[in-house]
Amino acid sequence: MAVLQAQGVGRRFGSRWVIRSLDMALEAGERVALLGPSGCGKTTLLNLLGGLDRPDEGMVLLEGEPLHRASPARLSVLRRTRLGTIFQFFHLIPTLTAEENIELPLRMLDWPEAAIRERCTALIRSVGLTHRATAWPAELSGGEMQRVAVARALAARPAVLLADEPTGNLDRSSGRAVLALLAELTEQEGSALVLVTHSEAAAGICHRVLRMEDGQFLAGPA
Ligand SMILES: Nc1ncnc2c1ncn2[C@@H]1O[C@H](COP(=O)(O)OP(=O)(O)OP(=O)(O)O)[C@@H](O)[C@H]1O
Ligand SMILES: [Mg+2]
Repeated sequence: MAVLQAQGVGRRFGSRWVIRSLDMALEAGERVALLGPSGCGKTTLLNLLGGLDRPDEGMVLLEGEPLHRASPARLSVLRRTRLGTIFQFFHLIPTLTAEENIELPLRMLDWPEAAIRERCTALIRSVGLTHRATAWPAELSGGEMQRVAVARALAARPAVLLADEPTGNLDRSSGRAVLALLAELTEQEGSALVLVTHSEAAAGICHRVLRMEDGQFLAGPA
């Protein structure tokens, strides 16, 4: 069964359809890159896939569960446990250290303290930041901040990770390091990935590339 599915999904703002009749299916552990020009609807689609926004037509199913039928409380549970998100501007909490940022989603889920410590220690090692664990976000480089954000997004073992231009604000070498980590960690954790990007290099870490234009997928090579 697909972990994430869009069926005939569309979204309009006013009378203008920004996305129209989109179908996609993401298998467990599959990495898909979403490429397309600015304004074609990538972020809009990601917001629909993550249950942050509701489609005006069609539906999104997360592990078979239709998101448009989920109550706000259920959506919030799903967003904490089954989905992880990463953004271009990291969105770390500035008053928490690197490790506290990674621990936060697990604290919100009431994980036992020992399990939180164990998971966080393993994740911070996986992203190569053991020596920076107690640093504040302001003391970290952009690449380091994004590595913390990757660890945080994967902390609760989500089925799907949604990343919106996660390297858009990084220099090329930090960007490459973050991409390599994204591939390695999602593989290790068995999480699927939807990676919105402008970069063909970023698409290289994915199993499949979807090209979008004016709110529709272009037919590509099979
Ligand atoms: N809340 C909104 N109200 C009205 N129009 C919107 C809204 N959100 C997005 N749009 C419009 O929908 C279109 C698609 O926007 P979207 O942010 O999805 O593009 P994108 O592909 O992510 O672009 P970029 O690569 O620049 O991030 C744009 O024309 C945008 O102006
Ligand atoms: Mg966008």
